[in-house]
Amino acid sequence: MPTQLESLRKHSLVVADTGDIDAVARWKPQDATTNPSLLLTSAEDPRWHALMDRDMDRVFVNFGCEILKHIPGRVSTEVDARLSFDTEGSIAKAQRFISLYEKAGVKRERVLIKLAATWEGIRAAEKLEREGIHCNMTLLFSFAQAVACAEAGVTLISPFVGRIYDWYRQQRKVEDIEISEDPGVASVTRIYGYYKKHGYKTQVMGASFRKTGQILALAGCDLLTIAPDLLDKMAKVDGEIPRKLSPEKAQGESKLKLDEKAFRWMHNDDAMATDKLAEGIRRFDADARKLEKLLISLAAAVPAK
Ligand code: E4P
Repeated sequence: MPTQLESLRKHSLVVADTGDIDAVARWKPQDATTNPSLLLTSAEDPRWHALMDRDMDRVFVNFGCEILKHIPGRVSTEVDARLSFDTEGSIAKAQRFISLYEKAGVKRERVLIKLAATWEGIRAAEKLEREGIHCNMTLLFSFAQAVACAEAGVTLISPFVGRIYDWYRQQRKVEDIEISEDPGVASVTRIYGYYKKHGYKTQVMGASFRKTGQILALAGCDLLTIAPDLLDKMAKVDGEIPRKLSPEKAQGESKLKLDEKAFRWMHNDDAMATDKLAEGIRRFDADARKLEKLLISLAAAVPAK
């Protein structure tokens, strides 16, 4: 009998969602994803102090390069949340990341630039993809965001499950929501169905999980990025996982085309997505500012080279 994790790997590409390089080395996933909050946690850990630099971009790339030593695929590196409403600034930041990676001997094919799926972020990704810089659209909560990302031809989207579940749990004042009713699982299922029905090449990577049941309910999704504690749980339980999502069974609604006005209207109409996108940007920004302060204090503690 395979473990749940082994069984899941037959249906979806499993990605590690962490800034902990030892965890990446242990799990040996194909790809790995990071975000500013995960990298702040790692930066606070003395094990990774050799990767510190005064320049936060370099720290992100140092972590990315270190992670890439343990995986055959791609690492995702996130653009500063302060640029979430700045298309040109996001493009410049992504180009800088790629140039730092290339100077370190890493080809752009092994990097996904993570951008918040705002209208401005999606426009930046559209241009970056034309330059051969591949993008992973994050903080994705609404169907409007998913539609606009597919139309922009981005490589990959990361629709969040757990943060949607958190929002509805809080609204409904309940401890838990069953998997069959889980609005985060339903959101990814809907997006996956729409993409497959209309033949979009953009890949869907479910992200932000709170429990293994949410992951197993999305078995078959193109990719799933999972934190080490949940990988650990699935590796300890035996069980054959049935495939839940597949292109053949995909159900999708009629094709939509969204210009800026329609995108903003449709996204704004979704209270959960509006709250969660705004909060997500604030949280990533707050953690990036904490990281910047940490880098200054670490640099002050070490004599100049
Ligand atoms: C991955 O792309 C996301 O940054 C991550 O899954 C977010 O997870 P969280 O909601 O647990 O912070």
